[in-house]
Amino acid sequence: MGVKIAGLGKAVPQMVLSNEKLSERVDTSDEWIRSRTGIENRCIAVTETTEQLATSAALEAISAAGIEAHNIELVIVATVSPDTTMPSTACLVARNIGADRATCFDITAACSGFVFASEVAISMMNQGGYQNALVIGAEVLSKMLDWEDRGTCVLFADGAGAVLYTKSEENQILAIETGSNPKGADQITLPAGVGNHTFYQVEERKQTIQMSGRDVYVFATTKVPESIRKVLEKAQLTPEEIAVYILHQANSRIMDNVAQKLGVPKEHFFKNLSHYGNTSAASIPMALYDAKALLKSGDKIILSGFGAGLTWGTMLLEW
Ligand code: COA
Repeated sequence: MGVKIAGLGKAVPQMVLSNEKLSERVDTSDEWIRSRTGIENRCIAVTETTEQLATSAALEAISAAGIEAHNIELVIVATVSPDTTMPSTACLVARNIGADRATCFDITAACSGFVFASEVAISMMNQGGYQNALVIGAEVLSKMLDWEDRGTCVLFADGAGAVLYTKSEENQILAIETGSNPKGADQITLPAGVGNHTFYQVEERKQTIQMSGRDVYVFATTKVPESIRKVLEKAQLTPEEIAVYILHQANSRIMDNVAQKLGVPKEHFFKNLSHYGNTSAASIPMALYDAKALLKSGDKIILSGFGAGLTWGTMLLEW
């Protein structure tokens, strides 16, 4: 028995914020953002919440899979922007979709969160007991941004993507590897929303994402090719044998650099970040959803995430 993907779902907020519109408020320009990152638009929540986006994506994945919510035994949400720390977003989604038998919890591994959550779900499924597992990446990062910090606020955005994994005789998940380098813990940070009131003092802390962009760039362009090569070695494949690379949609230049380091044409790297920006844990399942029309049966696909922690994770799939 193995594990395969039975359904995919995606949800984004209604409001689209273009680079032009953003530069009316922030000291930046369409030209700068586009040339440095590849981002043109992003979706920003006005009324939508992480719970709602995660639920919409989940409902679409379940419907695509043709599975009753009652038969889902595991719901894991990867997020760094939950509406509540407790209950977990996974519990709220399970309640909303009627997954009344599911074990539910959230995972925090930032932009690697979807791969980490998938590894946990697949391990639990392979150990037995779980036939169907829903893994969701969902973020409303626009609430966590300092809109005066042009080094971060032009990058991050909101959305959700969901994957319904099911146990099957055919195995689609060929290899996974994840890792962390806590020495880089200070390179991207986001303080927890509450909990800064001690018995003796109230600490003033900036409750927004802070990032050392250049360090993160160097980390991503070094670690991601290494992680991909490790996974390919496990499966005895070469970079040329991969039909589509779906990387965390942080920056077009990072993807082009990784393509160059692997010696494959950059056209093999799927990109949708021009529409959505960096949606952290949601970006890989959202990109997989958008890429699915291009995928052919038997294609080998790499999914690779990287981000705060520092963390990274790569999965090899056979479509
Ligand atoms: N608009 C206009 N100018 C901007 C700007 C913006 N949004 N952000 C920064 N700048 C300016 C800086 O102030 C600086 O100006 P100066 O030279 O006059 O001081 C100049 O652009 C260069 O800044 P720098 O931060 O060195 O830019 P960069 O070329 O490193 O690009 C990033 C910045 C963030 C695009 C780049 O570092 C990056 O992509 N890093 C990876 C970040 C990432 O992907 N994080 C998420 C991972 S999960």
